[in-house]
Amino acid sequence: MSQTVKEPAKIEAQLSFPPLDENFYNLRPEDSAFFKELTGIEDDAALKQHILDVQAKAYKVAPYGCIYLFGFTRYQVLRLGRERKNAIFLDIGCCFGNVIREAVLDGFPAAQAIGSDLHQELWDLGHELFKSSPETFPAHFMGGDAFDPKMLAIARPASVQTTGAPSPDLNNLTSLNPLHGCVSAIHATSFFHLFKEDKQLHMARAFAGLLSAEPGSVIFRAHIGAKEKGPVKKEFDKVEVEMFGHNPESWISMWDGVVFEKGMVKVEAELRDETLGTAGRNNRPLSLFWSVTRL
Ligand SMILES: C[S@@+](CC[C@H](N)C(=O)[O-])C[C@H]1O[C@@H](n2cnc3c(N)ncnc32)[C@H](O)[C@@H]1O
Repeated sequence: MSQTVKEPAKIEAQLSFPPLDENFYNLRPEDSAFFKELTGIEDDAALKQHILDVQAKAYKVAPYGCIYLFGFTRYQVLRLGRERKNAIFLDIGCCFGNVIREAVLDGFPAAQAIGSDLHQELWDLGHELFKSSPETFPAHFMGGDAFDPKMLAIARPASVQTTGAPSPDLNNLTSLNPLHGCVSAIHATSFFHLFKEDKQLHMARAFAGLLSAEPGSVIFRAHIGAKEKGPVKKEFDKVEVEMFGHNPESWISMWDGVVFEKGMVKVEAELRDETLGTAGRNNRPLSLFWSVTRL
C-alpha cells in the first residue's frame, strides 16, 4: 500500500517530538503472542524489526507520543458482548486499528467493527503492520476529523432502544452521522487528552449521540488524567506534553449529569500509575481508566 509523503501532522498537546528510540520496545508475552498470531512472524528479532519499520513510517505521518512509546503494541484485554445481534464496535482515534484487531480476535465480527481516525495513512499502515488487507481484514474505516460536524455532529443521546432494528449499512458510510444511536461499544485510548477541556466535553457529547440506548452499551478506555483537574505539563521519556487532565470525580460528573442526564449512565473512572505505552517509566503522567455504561 503506498503512502504519499506529506508534512507530519501538527499536534497541539505535545511540545516535543524526540527521534525514535528502539530501547522503548518492550513487548510483554501477551503483546508478542498477539502480534505473532496476526502477522505470522514467529522470530522475535524479525518481529521487532517489522514493528520498528512500520513505527518509523507512522511517525512520519503523525509523531504522536503513543507511537513513539509503542502504545499500539500493548495488548489491551477487551471483553465485548458477543451476544447482541448486529452490535457495532467503533474505535475513534484508532491509529493502526490494533484495538479493533484485538476485538475481532476475541470474537467480534470484523464486518461490524469500524475504526475512525484523522489520518487514513495510519489505518493503511495498520494493514502493513499486521500483514492484512481490506479483503483479509474487512473491518471498516471512516477517515476524518471527529470535530467536523459533517463527520460527527452532536446529537442528543438516543432514548429509544433499537433492538432488532436494521443496522446501518457500514459498507457505504461517508461519515459517522448515520451511526447516531446505533453503536454498542465505543473505544477511545490516548484520544481525549489531545484536546483542551471544552473540546473534551464536545467529544464526549459527540460520542454520547452515537451510543445505542440499549442497557449495557458502553464508551470506554483511557487517557492521561490528573489528581487535580487541570493542566498537565510533563516531560517523560523525552516527550513533553501540555494537556488538560480530568480527575475521576470531574470526569464522572461530566458524563453523568452534563453529557447524559443524571442517572442515564453508570460511570466508573480511576487513576492508575500505569503507562499507556510500553515506556513512560520516569515521571510518567497518571492514566485515567474509565467506562460509561448505559443503564
Ligand atoms: C495518540 S494516538 C492513539 C492511538 C490509539 N487509540 C492507541 O491507543 O494506540 C491518537 C490518535 O487520534 C487521532 N486523532 C487525533 N485528532 C483526531 C481528530 N480530530 N479526529 C479523529 N482522529 C484524531 C490521531 O491521528 C491518532 O491516530
